Amino acid sequence: MVYAAILGFGTVGSGVYEILRKNPSSIGKKAGDTIDVKYILDIRDFPDHPEAHLFTKNYDDILNDEEVSIVVEVMGGLKPAYEFTKAALLAGKSVVTSNKELVATHGTELIAIAKENKTNYFFEASVGGGIPIIRPLNQCLAANEISHLHGILNGTTNYILTKMFQEGSSFEDALKEAQDLGYAERNPEADVEGHDACRKTAILASLATGKFVDYNDIPTEGITKITQTDVIMAEKIGYVIKLIGSAEIDADGKVNAIVAPRLVSKTSLLSDVDGVFNAIMVRGDSLGDVMFYGRGAGKLPTASAVVADVIDAAKHFHINKWVIWGEAESGLMNDPETASYRYFVRTKDASLAEKFPGAEEIGGADGEFVFVTAPMQEKDFKAQVGDNAYIRILP
Ligand code: HSE
Repeated sequence: MVYAAILGFGTVGSGVYEILRKNPSSIGKKAGDTIDVKYILDIRDFPDHPEAHLFTKNYDDILNDEEVSIVVEVMGGLKPAYEFTKAALLAGKSVVTSNKELVATHGTELIAIAKENKTNYFFEASVGGGIPIIRPLNQCLAANEISHLHGILNGTTNYILTKMFQEGSSFEDALKEAQDLGYAERNPEADVEGHDACRKTAILASLATGKFVDYNDIPTEGITKITQTDVIMAEKIGYVIKLIGSAEIDADGKVNAIVAPRLVSKTSLLSDVDGVFNAIMVRGDSLGDVMFYGRGAGKLPTASAVVADVIDAAKHFHINKWVIWGEAESGLMNDPETASYRYFVRTKDASLAEKFPGAEEIGGADGEFVFVTAPMQEKDFKAQVGDNAYIRILP
């Protein structure tokens, strides 16, 4: 018997419990042993839960119980998740998590501690919810040099943008619906301002380069300034708008990374990724393009990835599975101001387009004009655009 403890009985934690109770026999066969939940840690009381005896508020119950070999950290946030994870790994327990904030912040240290203690720190659910992307990057694509990743990595913002495009919904109404469906973070600012997608982009970039990419080094913009004029004018020229986390790795191994709303051509597969779905396009030098697509948020899809990690942990006790993620390296990131894009610009200034050589005027709505620039460096673009609204175009 393998005993697991679940830290945090929120959306994901209750989903993990549900799946482990729903499919014990098939999960046991895949893990090579029966997996049982011995504890659930939460600061709240669940007196009416059918297994109320599993609940504890004291982490030491779990840490000091030698029978518990797998800790499922689905609390979110850094405190106390960081201390709890570190203590479990140092005690030789495997830790499985969906906590992207913790992985993006302390991943380098926690992965190293797991390695030193011949145990594992698995985080498949930290990016893309139920979509397999961490293990593919770490294992299946390991033969490739990755040259870029472009991902729709946040279900809440994709849900909002899809509603704005397909139903003309307002930003506020669409956000409320995403919150009611349990997709949004506790503080929805993390979704709509792009911080959640930024952490996920940093995790993917760290795996793609094999070096820690600090999310603080990734310029990040959210979707709060997107208007119905943007939607109408983007449609007119054959584009949709998606919040994209991207990491491009040049021939010298240097990284351009950014999280921002992007105009995505309707000829791109990413343009068809709607609602809460996420997708990640990866380009490898041997494989070419590959796309990973599925439900990027929600209780059971995310718990599905967590439970898969629990099974993998059960199959690899005392064997550290190598994670391609090394220490930070100075000079890894290119200067974002030198990155080059085409820009979609919305302005009340009818003569602004004249400042951009090669700009193409698209039309306008509600007293605003829209034009698209030729490719140009971010610093040159920003020197001319002033306070006018713009969206970068995904190549
Ligand atoms: N708030 C996140 C999202 C949850 O909307 O994608 C999954 O990480």
